[in-house]
Amino acid sequence: MAKELASLMKNELADVQPSAILQFDKDVSQIPDIVKLTLGEPDFNTPDHVKNAGEASIAADHSHYTQSPGLPALRQAIATFLADKYQAHYDPNDQIITTIGASGAIYASLTAILNPGDEVIVPIPTFPQYLPIIKLNGATPIYIDTSVDDFILTPEKLAATLAAHRDKVKAIVLNYPTNPTGVTYRHDQLAAFVAILRQYDIFVISDEIYSELTYGEPHVSLGALLPEQTLLINGVSKSHAMTGWRIGYVAGPAAVIAKVGLVHQLTATAAATMAQEAALEALQAGPDDGLQMKVAYQERRDYLVKELNKLGFVTAEPTGAFYVFAKIPARFGQDSLAFAYRVAREARVAVIPGSAFPAGEGYVRISYAASLAKLQTACQRLAAFVAAK
Ligand SMILES: Cc1ncc(COP(=O)(O)O)c(C=O)c1O
Repeated sequence: MAKELASLMKNELADVQPSAILQFDKDVSQIPDIVKLTLGEPDFNTPDHVKNAGEASIAADHSHYTQSPGLPALRQAIATFLADKYQAHYDPNDQIITTIGASGAIYASLTAILNPGDEVIVPIPTFPQYLPIIKLNGATPIYIDTSVDDFILTPEKLAATLAAHRDKVKAIVLNYPTNPTGVTYRHDQLAAFVAILRQYDIFVISDEIYSELTYGEPHVSLGALLPEQTLLINGVSKSHAMTGWRIGYVAGPAAVIAKVGLVHQLTATAAATMAQEAALEALQAGPDDGLQMKVAYQERRDYLVKELNKLGFVTAEPTGAFYVFAKIPARFGQDSLAFAYRVAREARVAVIPGSAFPAGEGYVRISYAASLAKLQTACQRLAAFVAAK
């Protein structure tokens, strides 16, 4: 009976697979003493002042629903944070929704704008989660493969892709700093994109969840450069080491945000009250909490890139997030899944196979959201593995 019912489910789900990243991580976690450089979450703990605010919220019995878009004070704090940090100006009353992680913001935004038959431009490799959501909404992702351009989207390819798909394209999903490549964009590069995007009536879903983690120039937000078309997605998961609290947000034009808010309301009602109060403390009292973590990430990045290069892994210098996307040396073949399992078993180092990302075959993603000591152990083990081959 259960089997028959399972065959009656939503057609679009037939193609959707569980996260390849989580599956790989689960598989290799069984290996004793493995050093895991797999997951995209800070190894730091949530700052104490933020934890205290969460505890105080529980103790004060703030265990009731908030307004669906989130506590007014939190929306004000988000607006202030975006204005102070990125010169992106939003009205907390009707232009910001607090969601369940950036994931909730991505889901609500895509679901609110897509009709069956729409096309969505997605530069790849990128965070895989956008793709099944696009497909569940009956829309089609149109890829721009950036691997041939050092993982940098070029204005020429953006313009050509938009022109070729002008009849059906509804949106573009940009993510920068980019998971998994660590690439980010400067003001002049973004300005070139904006000049092109302005020519089309399309939405720009701009996932800027790693905005506090740039290692060169400060982050520039499309919320500042192209507010009339942008749905700006961000959250406290990475900036404040708060992945488990599940607080993200989306900001955009009021009429658009009203519809995105409906999807959020239908799926979540509201984000958890005590987590919202913790996020309020994080943004209000600790807007720069992420900067201390960034200093550590930068040191780790420098170390990891240098060591990987010595071992023959070619990497672009990542300018944001906390990932290195490394080309597998030719003599190991380019099957990234086979390579990653081999490294896991033989070197006891876990890295994510590039095949978990579209256009990522032949690479591995190495997260440096791990202590320097762990990275040193991982590099020693990798060196021994490489030397033995
Ligand atoms: C690019 C990108 N967007 C969104 C998310 C999800 O963020 P959250 O945990 O706030 O839902 C991640 C998590 O790894 C990510 O890499």
